[in-house]
Amino acid sequence: MSKKLLQLTNIRKEFPGVTALEQVDFSLQSGEVKALVGENGAGKSTLIKLLAGIHQPEEGRIEVAGEEQKIDNPAVAKELGFAFIHQDVNLVPHFNAIENIWLGFDYPKSKGRFSRSEMAAKVKELAGELNFTLDFNKPVARLSTANKWLVAILKAFMMEARLLVLDEPTAALTDSEVQELFTNLRKIKEKGIAIIYISHRLEEIFQIADTITILKNGKKVHDSQVEDIDKDRLIKLMTGKSDDNRFPAKNPLEEKSPPVLRTEKLSGSKFKEISFQLRQGEILGFYGLIGSGRSELMEAIFGLRPLEAGEIYIEEEKIIPRSPADMISRGLALIPEDRRQQGLIMNMNVKQNLSLPNLADLSLLKPLNHIKTKAEKELAEKIVANLAVKTPSLRQNVKFLSGGNQQKVVIGKWLEQENQVYIFDEPTEGIDVGARREIYALIKELTARAGVIVVSSDLPEVIGLCNRVVVMNQGRITGELTGNDITEENILQLSYEEVE
Ligand SMILES: Nc1ncnc2c1ncn2[C@@H]1O[C@H](COP(=O)(O)OP(=O)(O)OP(=O)(O)O)[C@@H](O)[C@H]1O
Ligand SMILES: [Mg+2]
Repeated sequence: MSKKLLQLTNIRKEFPGVTALEQVDFSLQSGEVKALVGENGAGKSTLIKLLAGIHQPEEGRIEVAGEEQKIDNPAVAKELGFAFIHQDVNLVPHFNAIENIWLGFDYPKSKGRFSRSEMAAKVKELAGELNFTLDFNKPVARLSTANKWLVAILKAFMMEARLLVLDEPTAALTDSEVQELFTNLRKIKEKGIAIIYISHRLEEIFQIADTITILKNGKKVHDSQVEDIDKDRLIKLMTGKSDDNRFPAKNPLEEKSPPVLRTEKLSGSKFKEISFQLRQGEILGFYGLIGSGRSELMEAIFGLRPLEAGEIYIEEEKIIPRSPADMISRGLALIPEDRRQQGLIMNMNVKQNLSLPNLADLSLLKPLNHIKTKAEKELAEKIVANLAVKTPSLRQNVKFLSGGNQQKVVIGKWLEQENQVYIFDEPTEGIDVGARREIYALIKELTARAGVIVVSSDLPEVIGLCNRVVVMNQGRITGELTGNDITEENILQLSYEEVE
């Protein structure tokens, strides 16, 4: 028999200039998997943060197992058995998985000293129970995003949670890893743990969730069993629009024009003998499982990582990437995957972040000083309007924007530049369906003057958007697909192809 774990009634939450939640009711049973969906800025993360004791509601009532609770700090949430993995997985970067998982628990001791071996044994036992495999000894900063999620889930297991909240767990995971995560979530569900699952990948909701709640502009607009709604209606309720024409029409392939970017047998620590060509007018996809070396390859091309061998040509001129600044001056732009670490300055406002790569155009004098404030404001207004960035003003610090809106700022600031090669690493991670369409349209627009590489783990995106797709596994290219050969089956087959 399932029993009611959680009941939220008439919740309201205000931030300066924004009503993040209004009149929201929300309930959850033990062992239930509830999908929480809505556009960027709809209020999903805010709702979760009320349960986590990070924010308090201005109005409303929270009951846990039939008793009213005031969750006014994170310790209360922990006491109640609520475990959270927030959008930006919070781990101590220099600690390894074992140290992170044990943080906040009483360390086991033997003969008066911390017993590292017991700590490790306990973590490995939990990992074994869930079939998780990862490197326990590396600092987590050096683990992939997928593996950081596994560490965070193990930590939740360690505290014997009653409720596990996952805020966009799969944004950076590939298909097979998503399935692996789901298998594990089902095991967690069977143990009677309730799950709240936030995701912009709507296909997943139908695979994993029992029930669904939709938020729009801080209000609840729908609540039902997952069987009682289909994807089209879900998108209509979220956005007020239908999902037709999600991807722009593809450009015809122009085989004759010289490549804007070409590599010959490029090798680095995580990739070997990579040769490919990118032409103006095309969108070239890079698909592969986590650890396939795609991001490392792009970072090396951009001058962020050393190359061991091979050659890079931009417009048939051989170059050696010395630094990102050098590559930017040669017309390359890399829009990174990890927006919080690499893409934004959190304590600067929206306008300042948008100006950063455009300073050369916005300055009166060289070297850079005296910013043309009117031009700066106009540029920021244009990008914010184009991408429908939800922010109370251009002066809002980006750290206060919702995750998806931060991502829009990261992407938006590069779009006004005159580059000949754009490399997007997971461009729509965390972005809602409506804004995805805008980003796809903008990427397509760029092909009028540039070649675009899209590294993506989102199969529908790779298939719908790209003219050609390069598939990698374990640091090598296992194949390249064009036109009608770009199918799910072909891509997946190549991504598992063994390399010697
Ligand atoms: N600490 C804060 N200070 C000010 N405004 C905030 C703060 N946190 C959230 N907001 C605002 O509240 C609204 C809801 O944000 P929230 O993060 O809950 O959205 P979300 O549904 O999680 O979106 P996403 O899918 O982009 O992550 C947004 O307008 C956001 O800018
Ligand atoms: Mg969020």
